[in-house]
Amino acid sequence: MSVSDEVKQRIDIVELISRYTPLKRSGSIYKGNCPFHSERTPSFVVYPQSGNWHCFGACAVGGDAFNFVMRKENLDFREALQMLAKEAGVNLEENEVDPSADQRTKLYEINEVAATYFQEILRHHPAAQVARDYLERRGIDARTQELFKLGYALDQWSSLRDFLDGKGYNLEQQLVAGLLKRNEERNSTYDAFRARLMIPIRDRQGRVLGFGGRILGEGQPKYLNTSETPLFHKSRVIYGLDLAHQAIRAAEKVVIVEGYMDVIAAHQFGYSNVVACMGTALTTDQLQQLNRYTDTFILALDADAAGQQATIRGLNQARQALVKVTKPTITTSGRVELTERLGANLSIIAMPEGQDPDDVVRHDPQHWQQLVAQAQPLVDFYFKIVAEQYDLTTAHGKGQAVAELTPLIAELSDEAERQHYVQQLSKLVQIAELIIDSRVKSSARTQHVTFVQKERKATDQPTKGPPKPGNSSGALERRPVATATAVNEEDYLLARLLGDPDLIVWLAGATDQLEISPLRADDLQNVENQEICRALKQFVSSDEQWDIELFQETLTPHLHSKLAQLIIFNAQLPQSSPNELREDVIRTLIRIRIQRLSAESTNIKFLEEDAAHQGDLLGAKQFGYINNQHLRDLSRLQQSRQELSQTLFRKDRRERGVKIF
Ligand code: UTP
Ligand code: MN
Repeated sequence: MSVSDEVKQRIDIVELISRYTPLKRSGSIYKGNCPFHSERTPSFVVYPQSGNWHCFGACAVGGDAFNFVMRKENLDFREALQMLAKEAGVNLEENEVDPSADQRTKLYEINEVAATYFQEILRHHPAAQVARDYLERRGIDARTQELFKLGYALDQWSSLRDFLDGKGYNLEQQLVAGLLKRNEERNSTYDAFRARLMIPIRDRQGRVLGFGGRILGEGQPKYLNTSETPLFHKSRVIYGLDLAHQAIRAAEKVVIVEGYMDVIAAHQFGYSNVVACMGTALTTDQLQQLNRYTDTFILALDADAAGQQATIRGLNQARQALVKVTKPTITTSGRVELTERLGANLSIIAMPEGQDPDDVVRHDPQHWQQLVAQAQPLVDFYFKIVAEQYDLTTAHGKGQAVAELTPLIAELSDEAERQHYVQQLSKLVQIAELIIDSRVKSSARTQHVTFVQKERKATDQPTKGPPKPGNSSGALERRPVATATAVNEEDYLLARLLGDPDLIVWLAGATDQLEISPLRADDLQNVENQEICRALKQFVSSDEQWDIELFQETLTPHLHSKLAQLIIFNAQLPQSSPNELREDVIRTLIRIRIQRLSAESTNIKFLEEDAAHQGDLLGAKQFGYINNQHLRDLSRLQQSRQELSQTLFRKDRRERGVKIF
């Protein structure tokens, strides 16, 4: 459940709105005079069950608790969330690790200024000659130094501090950025990085998050990294991603190495799809980030076998975390299905003894290329290690090998793949397949019992008829999968638009041609969807080229998880031709509106009868009038739905295509 859902659930909408306008119970709903416009006949309705409200009068708008306070108190979504979260006793801080946007901006800025300062010193300062010599010795050329914005921190206690002071950054900011350290005993501060080669660590957009500082000679630590700050989280950072992401997409694979210098060397020699995970084990978070660009991961591990074994177990778990996400998808026939997300292919490069990618690339670029091409799938690689490690002629060795490998096989989600490795293991240890298979199964049972059960229930559910996405939310509610509740028509529409924002431009032309109103944020009812839709329309109308991450930056962090959900949802949807997609999108929009209008019409009828019943004939007449308008809109929409195939999607024998706007 998202934070805003949780807040909504805890807020009593009737109590909230009653503070602004008196409400009277009427059956299962509450009504009163609209707090947004003045009226004599109450046309404002609150639905306590769904937590929504609607004005059927002059405003003709509705929404939930958030929209209500946004409108009434003139707040933006973030502020509304803060206000209501406080009332509901929901702790936003817990959910929001991100500091305020202002603080972040300042931190990016101070890091950038520091990086430029270090760079200037490396280039020109006499005392940086040692560093220039060092780089020359290591063969890092000028262009590469520039590309990675390398720098040097002088061997002084306050040179950076003095510089940043002069630029107007206060001590607190320098401390929070991790550039300055405090000496508690002496109650003084000192530069965190001294006498080190400075390697700025940047995010995907090239913003400096922190630094790795390499000592020039021997000494400890070899690399000093920025401590955890609001921007810098070691487990999330992917070094080199800013320079690599395009190449990763183009090459359809990413090569993950261990060190800064490995990335720098690879890029210098033209292998640009290389990033580093900063010497720590690869985390699920890092894999997920990289998964936006590719599903093929190639890891260069050092030759130390013991280290490899531990790494591989961790890796397999991380990979499984990616693979096992169950997501609702809508098939071309319109059926909602739960499918497993597949396709994280992890392969391993075993580096030659005593060499890291930096050495190999410099010494023999061809060799590096060869190693990458020959990377082995994770499980195969593990088979090899195990085969080398144990004496497979002895009972003990066989037992060890089977014990090591069966859990890995059991974790594979593809039946055919599992079968393949069962056979392979059987051959390797000379034990009957049947026995291996039963070991795999028993290991699977202990590990994945909940997952398997859930999945079975979901797929056993008979799906009636060929339901359209519109019927999906009902069908999904019965399914015991948490993510499934997120799927409904408007999520579907928004997910499609996020997948291809050009559709928004197209949609504007299409609604115009059909003479129906253009897509508006409040075609959607969920407040998070509205916010995302609004921002999306704005982004599309700006000159900025579409980039999902830039777009994400325009949203408040509270919306990031919803955005991620929609993007993943879209990625799971079947590929359609541009025409199918367009038709699908406009049909969905029309369907959403028809559903909404029909529901509203029923409610207005209820209000009309209620007013008449209480002798408020003028009111009844007004509602009758509003309802007629609703019905007119409704028939206009139904008509345009029919016209679709004749106007926008006319198919004749020769030209099966869409009219171009
Ligand atoms: P390595 O020791 O393999 O360093 O550590 P390297 O990148 O090959 O560096 P050179 O070639 O000796 O200069 C791999 C990575 O582990 C992290 C760094 O990210 C490093 O690039 N590391 C290593 C640290 O953070 N601190 C250390 O003290 C050592
Ligand atoms: Mn190295």
